[in-house]
Amino acid sequence: MDAAANFYNTYSSTFALLGVGLCGWQLIKLICYILKAVRSFLLAPLLNLGLQPKKLGSWAVVTGATDGIGKAYAIALAKKGANIVLISRTASKLDAVAEEISAVANVQTKCITADFSGGVDIYGSIYKDLEGLDIGILINNVGMSYEYPEYLHQVPNRDETFDRMLHINIFSVTFMTTMILPQMVAKRKGAIVNIGSASCFGFPLLTVYAASKAYVDSFSKNLAVEYADKGITVQSIYPFLVSTKMSRTKPNFTAPPAQKFADSALSTLGLEPATTGYFAHWLLGSIYHELLPFGMMMKLSYSMCQGVRAKALKKIAAKKK
Ligand SMILES: NC(=O)c1ccc[n+]([C@@H]2O[C@H](COP(=O)([O-])OP(=O)(O)OC[C@H]3O[C@@H](n4cnc5c(N)ncnc54)[C@H](OP(=O)(O)O)[C@@H]3O)[C@@H](O)[C@H]2O)c1
Repeated sequence: MDAAANFYNTYSSTFALLGVGLCGWQLIKLICYILKAVRSFLLAPLLNLGLQPKKLGSWAVVTGATDGIGKAYAIALAKKGANIVLISRTASKLDAVAEEISAVANVQTKCITADFSGGVDIYGSIYKDLEGLDIGILINNVGMSYEYPEYLHQVPNRDETFDRMLHINIFSVTFMTTMILPQMVAKRKGAIVNIGSASCFGFPLLTVYAASKAYVDSFSKNLAVEYADKGITVQSIYPFLVSTKMSRTKPNFTAPPAQKFADSALSTLGLEPATTGYFAHWLLGSIYHELLPFGMMMKLSYSMCQGVRAKALKKIAAKKK
């Protein structure tokens, strides 16, 4: 009887110790998780804790720079003293943004007209346009999503749509990065920011877009390790909704205006290798990706997209009448 009691006492106290240890470990992880958010979203913008663009080089290159998040990054970087190369399709919009930048910051701008949806030929001419510039930061921002959430086989003009989407979302990030990396490696400094999306964790009915953003996230995380000892910072940004032309969402607490988002995301550069970039998005990410089981998160995303799809199809049908 004594032996059985001894056995029970020894094991129950061992399990109790293990339980306390595990709870303590989870608590420490939770505290670190919250402290990191406080540093990134509260202290970093207040105290300028992030990497300072001017220290990395005199120019910053931004793709998809005439609207939304890209334009907002360009303005934020210019306000921090970087000269800006703006790249997108429409010359008149590029000139307008260049003028807007000149009005708020005493920096130089250079506009490059390029369409990332086609073949890889455009990169030769972009390379020539960038030759001789001391580039400190590359913001790979340009991106394309679905017109509306849809089942893979029912996406309108799906072959052409997916061809363009993969060129814009994947090829541009890959080729712009490989183009600019050599000069950063030679200087042993620089930063590459890749704008992905929170959909990279899974978003049924936006399958190809979400998968392309998973590429961006994985590309960034691997590259960050490859180039850390060469003085280069690589950051993956995966926002939830931001109020832009692409999202067609009015600004609210969880969908900030692009400028508010970009200011916040830029202040985390050098502090967070991978981040949602914005406090409210961190909250959403904590619920969606950390708390909810994966299956439940996917079901929620799916039913949300089904709702958006139903509305979009109704609109399309009404237009046809
Ligand atoms: N908005 C959101 O809620 C959200 C959420 C998560 C992630 N993101 C990501 O954030 C990035 C920016 O999105 P956004 O909402 O700011 O987009 P946006 O407001 O639609 O702006 C897109 C920019 O890209 C340019 N562009 C579009 N197609 C192009 C092409 N083929 N070649 C060259 N430039 C092109 C556009 O200018 P032109 O038309 O003049 O070329 C514009 O400057 C994207 O990668 C997107 O996936 C957005």
